[in-house]
Amino acid sequence: MMNRDPSAPAMTQEELKVLVGRAALAYVEPGQIIGVGTGSTVNCFIDALAQAQLSIAGTVSSSEASTQRLRAHGIPVFDANEVAELAVYIDGADEIDPRGHMIKGGGAALTREKIVAAQARRFVCIADQSKWVQTLGRFPLPVEVIPMATQRLIRQFAALGGEARVRLRDGVPLVTDNGQHILDVHGLRIPDPVAFESMVNNWPGVVTVGVFAHQRAHVCLLGTPEGVRTIAFETP
Ligand code: A5P
Repeated sequence: MMNRDPSAPAMTQEELKVLVGRAALAYVEPGQIIGVGTGSTVNCFIDALAQAQLSIAGTVSSSEASTQRLRAHGIPVFDANEVAELAVYIDGADEIDPRGHMIKGGGAALTREKIVAAQARRFVCIADQSKWVQTLGRFPLPVEVIPMATQRLIRQFAALGGEARVRLRDGVPLVTDNGQHILDVHGLRIPDPVAFESMVNNWPGVVTVGVFAHQRAHVCLLGTPEGVRTIAFETP
C-alpha cells in the first residue's frame, strides 16, 4: 500500500484514477510493447506514460479512442497482428471481484479488450475503489452482439432474469469499433463468472460478453482514500 498523508483532503474519483494510472507505470519497462485498454482510468495511464517518457517500443491498443490518445502523445501503436506477445496489458474495469474476475465494456471496447488481453502475459487492472464488488452484476453487463440476433438475445437474458437494453447514442443504436451493437443487461447476479462467460459466449449472435473471467486480472491496483492497494490474485 502506498500511504497518503491522513490529514490531506479526501480524494475525488478522478484523483484516484490519476493515482492508479501513475501506479501502473511500475509494470512497464523501457523497450517493451504493451497492451493498452480503454476508458477514463486508462486515459490517466496514457497521460502518465507520455509524461514519464519511458521509451517503450510501442503499444497495441484496444480502441480507436485509445489509439488516438496514444498517437497524440507520439506513442507508437501497432496492429495486434504485427505483435506476437505483449509483456503486460493495462486496463480499467467496471467491476472487479476478489478473484480478479471483471465486468468490462462500459466504453463499448470489450471485444478488442479481450483480444489484446489474450496477447499479454499479465493483466494489470487499474480501478478506483467504487469498482470493487463481492459478486459481479451490479453494473449492467455489456454484451457486443450481431444486430440480427438482438431480439432473441434479449429473450435469452430475460429467461435468466436480466433486462437487456440496446445501448443508444444520440437516440440510435451505438455502433462499436467492430460495426456491431451493445446490449446492456440489468438485474443479473453472476456468482460463477467462469461458467457464465462460457455459456453466453456460446449463444449465437454474441460477439463478446463483458465478463472477463477466463482472462481475469493478475493484479489490481485499486485507488483508495489511503492510497493505492495492490491486490495480486492467486493463479488457479
Ligand atoms: C471499456 O470498454 C471498459 O471496459 C473500461 O475498461 C471500463 O468501462 C472502465 O472505464 P472507466 O475507467 O472509464 O471507468
